[in-house]
Amino acid sequence: MVMSLILIILFFPFCTSLDTLTPDQSIKDGQSLISKENNFALGFFSPGNSSYQYLGIWYVKVTKQTVVWVANRNNPINDSSGVLSINQFGNLVLHDSYNRLLWSTNVSIQGTTSSVAQLQDSGNLVLFQGNNKLVLWQSFDCPTDTLLPGMRLGLNRITGLDRFLTSWKSKDDPGTGDYFHKMNPTGSPQIFLYKGSTLYWRSGPWPWQTSSPAAIVSLDFKYDFVNNEDEVSYAYFANDPSIISRVVVDNSGLLQKLVWNDGDLQWKEFWSAPKYRCDKYAQCGAFSKCGPESPNNSNWFECACLPGYEPKSPRDWSLRNGSEGCVRKESMCGNEEGFVMMKRLKGPDSSNAAWMDMSMSSSECEQACLSNCSCTAFISMNIDGMGTRCLAWYGELMDLVENTYEMWDLNVRVDATELATYTSKSEGFLGHKRQVAIAISTVVVPLFLVSFIAYMCLMKKRKTKRTLKRKLQNQSLNFIGFKGSLEGNELEDSSRHPDLSIFNLSCLVTATGNFSPTNKLGQGGFGSVFKGQLSNGQQIAVKRLSKNSGQGIEEFKNEVVLIAKLQHRNLVKLLGCCIQEEERMLIYEYMPNKSLDSFIFDHTRSSLLNWRKRFEIIIGIARGILYLHQDSRLRIIHRDLKTSNVLLDGEMNPKISDFGIARIFKGDQIQDKTTRVVGTYGYMSPEYAIFEKFSTKSDVFSFGVILLEIVSGKKNNGSYHKQDSLTLIGHVWELWREGRALDIVDSSINDSFVYHEVVRCIQIGLLCVQEDAMDRPTMLAVLLMLSCETTLPSPKQPAFIFRRPTNDLGSITGGGVYSINDVTITEFEAR
Ligand SMILES: *[C@@H]1O[C@H](CO)[C@@H](O)[C@H](O)[C@H]1NC(C)=O
Ligand SMILES: *[C@@H]1O[C@H](CO)[C@@H](O)[C@H](O)[C@H]1NC(C)=O
Ligand SMILES: *[C@@H]1O[C@H](CO)[C@@H](O)[C@H](O)[C@H]1NC(C)=O
Ligand SMILES: *[C@@H]1O[C@H](CO)[C@@H](O)[C@H](O)[C@H]1NC(C)=O
Ligand SMILES: *[C@@H]1O[C@H](CO)[C@@H](O)[C@H](O)[C@H]1NC(C)=O
Ligand SMILES: *[C@@H]1O[C@H](CO)[C@@H](O)[C@H](O)[C@H]1NC(C)=O
Repeated sequence: MVMSLILIILFFPFCTSLDTLTPDQSIKDGQSLISKENNFALGFFSPGNSSYQYLGIWYVKVTKQTVVWVANRNNPINDSSGVLSINQFGNLVLHDSYNRLLWSTNVSIQGTTSSVAQLQDSGNLVLFQGNNKLVLWQSFDCPTDTLLPGMRLGLNRITGLDRFLTSWKSKDDPGTGDYFHKMNPTGSPQIFLYKGSTLYWRSGPWPWQTSSPAAIVSLDFKYDFVNNEDEVSYAYFANDPSIISRVVVDNSGLLQKLVWNDGDLQWKEFWSAPKYRCDKYAQCGAFSKCGPESPNNSNWFECACLPGYEPKSPRDWSLRNGSEGCVRKESMCGNEEGFVMMKRLKGPDSSNAAWMDMSMSSSECEQACLSNCSCTAFISMNIDGMGTRCLAWYGELMDLVENTYEMWDLNVRVDATELATYTSKSEGFLGHKRQVAIAISTVVVPLFLVSFIAYMCLMKKRKTKRTLKRKLQNQSLNFIGFKGSLEGNELEDSSRHPDLSIFNLSCLVTATGNFSPTNKLGQGGFGSVFKGQLSNGQQIAVKRLSKNSGQGIEEFKNEVVLIAKLQHRNLVKLLGCCIQEEERMLIYEYMPNKSLDSFIFDHTRSSLLNWRKRFEIIIGIARGILYLHQDSRLRIIHRDLKTSNVLLDGEMNPKISDFGIARIFKGDQIQDKTTRVVGTYGYMSPEYAIFEKFSTKSDVFSFGVILLEIVSGKKNNGSYHKQDSLTLIGHVWELWREGRALDIVDSSINDSFVYHEVVRCIQIGLLCVQEDAMDRPTMLAVLLMLSCETTLPSPKQPAFIFRRPTNDLGSITGGGVYSINDVTITEFEAR
């Protein structure tokens, strides 16, 4: 149809130029104005299947009819009798054959000089007054659904003229549709897409906002944003003028930037919004972030509260409806506060944000925000040529979206408790140094205080210890010929050294029935464990260590003395030791309920541990490890954490056993490469298993495995899932990504589990088994995550998703003895 129109025009040219309409001329159906360079045409058209006619502007060079402007969009002509002309007052008017006025430019024109209308090559229809070319009216000021290059969208603050786009009703009807694309001038200006009066999508705030016009250059397009007393608006330009492009709000509510492709004669999408779930305005309500987008995964819950906030409606939240958003956990002002930085965000709705003074440094910005109680967040940004600027938010933070394309680092105001949680190096949340200081001073202090008190006790005992050391040295002779004075004395030295007793071998022989196999409790890489009963009735567990510890009697005793000082309710208590020539034994308190694996992996006994108990056990284990890692003076890395090394006392309280053994076996360097791999397949972190590097993060990995095993009741290295080669970790990860993490929960706790706690535990477990040790949280962070309802980072892919083929076992370490039967791998031969 367009082509035929053009042909008609070419055959019936106006007497004057083709692009201008003078008062003595008119345009009827079949006639049109053509801009000078043949870019645009103005005339009558019928969209799609419609039988109505409209006056509009379309591309000449685009073969697919593409209308960019419509005059009488809500007043169609029901036949082909429309006439466009300039009336006696100089206005453009559109009449039909019944002489009804369908549309006009309503300008009041002073003077008598006549006006002319010209269709320009930009697609702008301009009404000029007389020869002085005064612009009376232009179609660019009354856009329909299309923004063309050079056209401004926004508000003229002086005249009140607001230029915005409105979608068509349908492809057949250019009438005013439901969707608006509009500049919002309040706060820091943004562009919005509305559906009716509802905010539907939002651009980020303008980072290049300044009092003078500034241009931002992208590869293909240049954007010109103006915000001053007169005007707040933007326009875009194509860097190459031969590129045909447009921005359009289509009738389905999609805002698109399209580029015409000459090759296949199609409009190509250059950019569009809203595209993803998180693009929808306030998808996750206030104080919550949406994303990162996981387009493949329809079950993924996209919302997470900001640090320091909790779901407003936990029920909706658990039903994966985040629209209610989050609320602040507790009053923050008055407390010591700081900021948690959240990376790669689309800045929150800046309607209630304000720019601070220009050239404010990041720390000045932080101070400015801190000093006003209603300031909730800030962004400090470096703008080329304009220095550092500070944008601060007051009140609600709406519509935060996290994805990898965004460049904003938002600093969210939090109280000190939150700071401590997020300053541990976790993905997406990085605290400032100053914040770490605050965290230490307010949160970690209690923990340190405990350590400090313990330390003071140790200082007090130092003298005792020195005496003891000397005493032990003196006694070593006695031990070698132990028959002497110790005979008949089960517990020696306990009066002078309460931490440790030296046991007499003969009594241990009696207590364990000469290490009878019937008394054997277990076998580990470091030796076997036997149950025993002393003559006073006390039950004990005797660990008979493998030979070749490589240590002399002195060293061994010194180590045992140190380890005996590790006392925590979640560590098995070391009662004493026994040394005789080749024999080295450790004597522990006896745990009637044996080890954790005997419950969780047992079909009948697993029901004895309900969710509450399991959760307490998880927290207990975490506390025990934290104590080993940081609260004890020795900084022990356990290196062989597994469910069989977690024992349960009469009240089912977890107690970690076998700690410090690696130390006894001289593997006592911290964060170093060890030539010996000691650990258990299925619990070993990748850096430890492969590179033989260990650190506290290797223990965190093992803890993560234990946690997932407790929740699932399945062994990480077990063969519960025969169809594929996924490990438990891999299986949980797959389910997690599909949003079905709960499928993994042990069916025997189906009645007792608490949804949010289980989900939280699984997420923490996954955070602990992440491939990169740096990504894993510290035990302190883990404990805080377990005990506080804070927002958790998203876990990255864990290590060891796939099971190693069993025939390949043993190749990982040089010289290590491997076993898949959950037995500690060690270079020491089991007896
Ligand atoms: C026009 O009508 C035809 C046949 O009824 C239909 O296939 C086509 O989709 C319609 N086009 C538009 C734009 O509605
Ligand atoms: C067009 O509208 C006029 C006025 O409402 C009416 O008289 C006329 O019959 C209509 N023509 C057609 C073809 O529907
Ligand atoms: C012209 O003015 C009249 C009355 O003020 C108004 O109803 C009409 O919508 C205006 N037309 C345009 C195209 O602005
Ligand atoms: C994810 O989406 C991509 C592209 O649509 C597809 O090729 C891939 O198979 C999808 N992955 C999954 C796990 O569904
Ligand atoms: C989400 O919850 C809100 C408030 O309870 C409710 O109005 C809305 O309809 C819910 N949305 C969905 C998709 O369930
Ligand atoms: C905090 O900032 C808001 C917004 O700029 C302002 O209205 C309010 O007066 C300020 N309050 C204080 C105590 O400075």
